[in-house]
Amino acid sequence: MNTPDEQPVSPYERIGGAPAVTEAVERFYRRLLADGDLAGFFTDTDLPQLKRHQVALISQVLDGPKSYEGRELAEAHRGMGITAGQYQAVGAHLIAVLEELDVPGDIIDHVGKVLESVAPDVIGADV
Ligand code: HEM
Repeated sequence: MNTPDEQPVSPYERIGGAPAVTEAVERFYRRLLADGDLAGFFTDTDLPQLKRHQVALISQVLDGPKSYEGRELAEAHRGMGITAGQYQAVGAHLIAVLEELDVPGDIIDHVGKVLESVAPDVIGADV
């Protein structure tokens, strides 16, 4: 519990900060590349850069450092023709990784809500 003069502990800190987020992102892309329905999307991608951007974005979503400097999600996924089913599958991989790493349920719920809110930016973002 926080005493009144302490800053509330952010979800980012609660899960273990940068090492935890980095580990989650590593596992996330390991899963995506092992998923035959999804791996093809990443064939021509600069994976180290994508992972760095994903670490920064997830850190930001968890109230950690605000250092995301990648493109807007709609711009990054434009023209890929990502279906709702593929989006669901990617989201499920992320949630599964967080569960594997014993991330507390309230934080997983928060990530789930963020995934719902950004879905329109990623699914069929080709206009
Ligand atoms: C679930 C929500 C998603 C989030 C939060 C997300 C986030 C991101 C971020 C932060 C980037 C990097 C942008 C940049 O470097 O400027 C990116 C790129 C990318 N995303 Fe996603 N993404 C999501 C879903 C998906 C899905 C469903 C797919 C495919 C099925 C996908 C495929 C890709 C690919 C291939 C790139 C690299 C594009 C390139 O190399 O130019 N993403 N995504």
